[in-house]
Amino acid sequence: DRPMRLGIAGLGTVGASLARLIASNKDAYALRAGRPIELVAVTARDRSKDRGVDLSGVQWFDDPVALASHAEIDLFVELVGGAEGAAFDSVKAALNRGLPVVTANKALLAHHGVQLAKLAQRKGTTIFFEAAAAGGIPIIKTMREGLRGNKVSRVYGILNGTCNYMLTRMEREGIAFDDCLKDAQRLGYAEADPTFDIGGFDAAHKLALLTSLAFGCEIDLDSIFIEGIAAVTTEDIEAAADLGYRIKLLAVAQRTESGIEQRVHPTMIPAYSALAQVDGVTNAVAVDTDLLGSILLVGPGAGGSATASAVLSDVLDAARGVSMPAFGLEPASLAPYKRARMRAH
Ligand code: NAP
Ligand code: HSE
Repeated sequence: DRPMRLGIAGLGTVGASLARLIASNKDAYALRAGRPIELVAVTARDRSKDRGVDLSGVQWFDDPVALASHAEIDLFVELVGGAEGAAFDSVKAALNRGLPVVTANKALLAHHGVQLAKLAQRKGTTIFFEAAAAGGIPIIKTMREGLRGNKVSRVYGILNGTCNYMLTRMEREGIAFDDCLKDAQRLGYAEADPTFDIGGFDAAHKLALLTSLAFGCEIDLDSIFIEGIAAVTTEDIEAAADLGYRIKLLAVAQRTESGIEQRVHPTMIPAYSALAQVDGVTNAVAVDTDLLGSILLVGPGAGGSATASAVLSDVLDAARGVSMPAFGLEPASLAPYKRARMRAH
């Protein structure tokens, strides 16, 4: 069978994990994809850095746009990060050629997802983004496929692994905020600019994507109320514990009488509840629906292999020729929610 030839832009925490997995599981992935998966081209900033994988025979590009324009690739995997610049330009370049794109970049999609999804639709291709929300938890497929017949009333949970890791260690070990953040960075959980994590913006990016899938509306990042964990102290956590609560950074999107409400903020949750038990880098996403009732998905929310697991599922789907619209872009399904004013408080 004709191989699926991959170009990976970005060989950091996620990209290098993905490249290592592809190199060491060739036969298994060929079986699951129905054709061989071949890494043929990569790009990163520093050519001399050891990525823990043999890249001999793999073509090196210094620029993600040049990689996305490379004639020898069938799939472009964007793992560079950032809403603008190289990530945005290279994804546009790949889609413009009609190539399928896999990305873990929630910042890019929260800002430009509608434009990119429309471009993909026009070009008859697909943008896959399983890794862009809740790390390794297969929440995008769950929302898109498993819950297709349901009407969702609320989607909420813990969407940032860095913050949950920090809050857990502050509570359980009394470790200072800055030291917890340094550890999260060292472990590859934090964004390149960790302000996105502790400021609540990363959770908001993910929530914007889940809202679009849950309610069929266009992505609307601007209407999200965002408060991060920067002001949360160990004293706050202790005071909450004395009252029987734990503090979590929650992201919530729900239908209200006045429209879809989206918010991200630290929240006191009863210590006995399932969400309060979610510790460390783990994420949790709860979805309330009409037919199914409530479900809760829990799993690793950040880190190289957890995220590469989600990227891989998209790569294997793309290799099998799966295609689908990225977000709720149909005008008919959009109308009722588009008219409703989003409320932030
Ligand atoms: P990272 O470790 O910072 O890696 C970024 C990679 O992109 C590096 O290899 C870097 O090159 C390369 N790069 C940056 N700018 C470039 C440019 N202009 N041209 C070429 N290469 C460039 O980031 P990451 O943690 O792997 O995250 C990648 C993406 O996945 C981000 O969108 C992030 O939000 C998302 N994500 C991450 C996680 C996670 O747990 N880390 C989880 C879910 C989603 P050098 O290595 O040479 O510096
Ligand atoms: N920085 C993100 C987090 C990576 O900590 O959740 C996963 O999206």
